[in-house]
Amino acid sequence: MAKLQEKIELKALISGYCSEKGISKADFAVKANVSEATLSAIENEKWDKISVAMVKKLQSFLKSETTGTLYETADFVAVMRACDAAKEHHLMVGLVGDTGTGKTTSLTAYSRNPNVYRVTYEKSMNPKQFFTSLLKEMGVDFAGNIYSMIGKVADELNCKEKPLLIIDEAGKITHPVMLYLHDLREKTKGNCGVVLAGMPYFREHLKKAAARGKEGVSEFLRRINVWHELAGLSVGERRFVVKDHGITDPEKVEELLHHEKFGELMNGIMLEKIISEQL
Ligand SMILES: Nc1ncnc2c1ncn2[C@@H]1O[C@H](COP(=O)(O)OP(=O)(O)OP(=O)(O)O)[C@@H](O)[C@H]1O
Ligand SMILES: [Mg+2]
Repeated sequence: MAKLQEKIELKALISGYCSEKGISKADFAVKANVSEATLSAIENEKWDKISVAMVKKLQSFLKSETTGTLYETADFVAVMRACDAAKEHHLMVGLVGDTGTGKTTSLTAYSRNPNVYRVTYEKSMNPKQFFTSLLKEMGVDFAGNIYSMIGKVADELNCKEKPLLIIDEAGKITHPVMLYLHDLREKTKGNCGVVLAGMPYFREHLKKAAARGKEGVSEFLRRINVWHELAGLSVGERRFVVKDHGITDPEKVEELLHHEKFGELMNGIMLEKIISEQL
């Protein structure tokens, strides 16, 4: 049985999320893939109608939309600025950084803002599934052929105030999806910003494919107005994060300072904490 306290907390988290993002409960239902009846039961505290599995599903959705403690590192601030610029000036920005440099974390934080839509491209998605997930992210339950889906996304984006579309794992998008994104960009470029985030190979692969003359790649590449590459953590930033986690043993601190990427540093800190708790 999920505890009553957990359900009450869930209600507050959902309301907080909706008001922060400026979306309705109906939008939330589509985004989280639950029925409006479920949300209404939560709203009216009809707890007997909310199963343990539903509590877990909603908790896991909210977790994917939330970050833990955030450090305002130079990379983090640069991602926030890149998103602001893309949103304000309807730019298409390419954001690249090695694995674990904090792309997803920073973009997740930014996507708590209204009219910001973040989707993660998954290798197993076909183009229709990608656009379905994008429409769901916008609170729209819509099915149709790919042409009408792109049209629907464009219509939705064009009636919003300075919307921003964030596509994470963009280095994995397939050639057809890239061509469809080109169409979407053409239909929305007067109103919508785009951030495409991926590993450094995202930019390299596009450049190589463009040089080979692969259909549509040069045109897509030209439409990326600016690229930004994440730098990794400075030694000062690493030292701050390590200290903030209560690690003071000089030998251990020195060891941890070798990790330039956030992901590696956090993994090292976590392992260090597990080991020290076991001793
Ligand atoms: N600004 C930040 N504040 C706090 N923790 C952070 C921050 N940026 C990154 N992290 C930590 O580093 C880990 C790795 O970051 P993240 O998953 O965002 O990297 P990524 O660039 O998206 O990597 P990948 O390319 O593998 O998806 C996160 O799980 C988080 O613990
Ligand atoms: Mg990531």
